[in-house]
Amino acid sequence: MYCQRLTLKDFRNYRRLDLHLSPGLTIFQGENASGKTTLLEAVYILATTKSPRAGSDQELVSFEAEAEFGAPAFARLAGTVDRQDGEIEAEILVLRDQPPGADNAQAGTARKRIKVNGTARRSIDLIGKINVVLFSPEDLDLVIGTPSLRRRYLDATLSQIDHRYLRHWQDYAKVVAQRNGFLRNVRERQNQSRGRLPGRDEMSIWNEELVKNGAYLIKRRLEALQSLNGLAATTHAQLTGLNSTLMPEAVNGFELVYQPSFDLQGTSDEAAIAARFEERLNEVRSQELQRGVSLAGPHRDDFAFMVEEANIATYGSRGQQRTAVLSLKLAEVGWMQAQTGDRPILLLDDILSELDVHRRQYVLDTVQARADQILITATDLAFFGDEAALREVAALYLVEGGSVKRV
Ligand SMILES: Nc1ncnc2c1ncn2[C@@H]1O[C@H](COP(=O)(O)OP(=O)(O)OP(=O)(O)O)[C@@H](O)[C@H]1O
Ligand SMILES: [Mg+2]
Repeated sequence: MYCQRLTLKDFRNYRRLDLHLSPGLTIFQGENASGKTTLLEAVYILATTKSPRAGSDQELVSFEAEAEFGAPAFARLAGTVDRQDGEIEAEILVLRDQPPGADNAQAGTARKRIKVNGTARRSIDLIGKINVVLFSPEDLDLVIGTPSLRRRYLDATLSQIDHRYLRHWQDYAKVVAQRNGFLRNVRERQNQSRGRLPGRDEMSIWNEELVKNGAYLIKRRLEALQSLNGLAATTHAQLTGLNSTLMPEAVNGFELVYQPSFDLQGTSDEAAIAARFEERLNEVRSQELQRGVSLAGPHRDDFAFMVEEANIATYGSRGQQRTAVLSLKLAEVGWMQAQTGDRPILLLDDILSELDVHRRQYVLDTVQARADQILITATDLAFFGDEAALREVAALYLVEGGSVKRV
């Protein structure tokens, strides 16, 4: 699939933009703070309804956007994407928060409005219709960052290709929050030495909900990691074998290893996972009541990047960590195609400058073979080698202060 057209209104530093794009390589070159990442962010949001970097949707609305005719200021993003299943038009409005007490503040109004092919929809109806793989320098945090980043990665990636995962994930998050509230409540009553411990029945209602949604999440995460491993291992061996002077041999034995919060006893069967999960909840029952939090389940799971059985978050060099993320990201592209039957749009944000010349060429060759459209940002075209040769294969754009020009 590829994005044919991207239009923006009051989105970050873009007041207005109407961009027609082609399949293949597209390079957005520009100085720092010109608006390069913002373009990739827009495509990412149209696919997932969420920004990969913004803490709040409010950040997305241009500082200069103004309220008009009593309606709040808003950002608008729209994209037309050509897919195997036919063209799709996605549109998202992000409304700016109204100051409290403002005349036109409408309590309870959604801050985000979504349309698919011109009809109002919920975010769950749009997610998955457009598939993207984003790769940016911050992805190194996948290896070295906190477990929550890795969980978010799995959840966001799986939600793109599996609606059931998305629904279970949303329900699971709600159940964890409610169950924690319940546990805290019990703990407080205990501390004030009133109230009794909850009965098995009361607790098992919460456990059932947790297990029902959680077992599926674990199962799908295990399956995803297994497929990604198959694809990433080859890439990793090729990447490490590239510069023979530095690294005499290709390094095999790259593996993403799921680290569940309770022992799965080697099973990846949903019913068996559910049974183990329930067992575990019974084991940690008194601990949970004491601490007032849910201690077992996919919201506590993690995965590790292992190379030759060492966790490279601890033992790897920065270069090894980078190679590992690169292998994962390139694997994700192939995995997504295998899952959906269509090739995702690839968004490479400023990553080529970090790679040596061999890896850069490898990445450019691999992504062109695996994706219909690759949108790349860079501050400098020198990273791509000969500019005349580059023009033969890529569309070049100059990004400057929120405007984009074909060059
Ligand atoms: N809500 C907003 N309204 C107006 N401008 C914004 C808003 N949010 C961010 N900006 C500005 O948009 C500009 C573009 O940011 P962006 O991250 O796209 O730059 P970039 O070209 O990727 O830069 P770099 O090369 O440093 O990564 C920045 O100057 C930023 O301050
Ligand atoms: Mg940037």
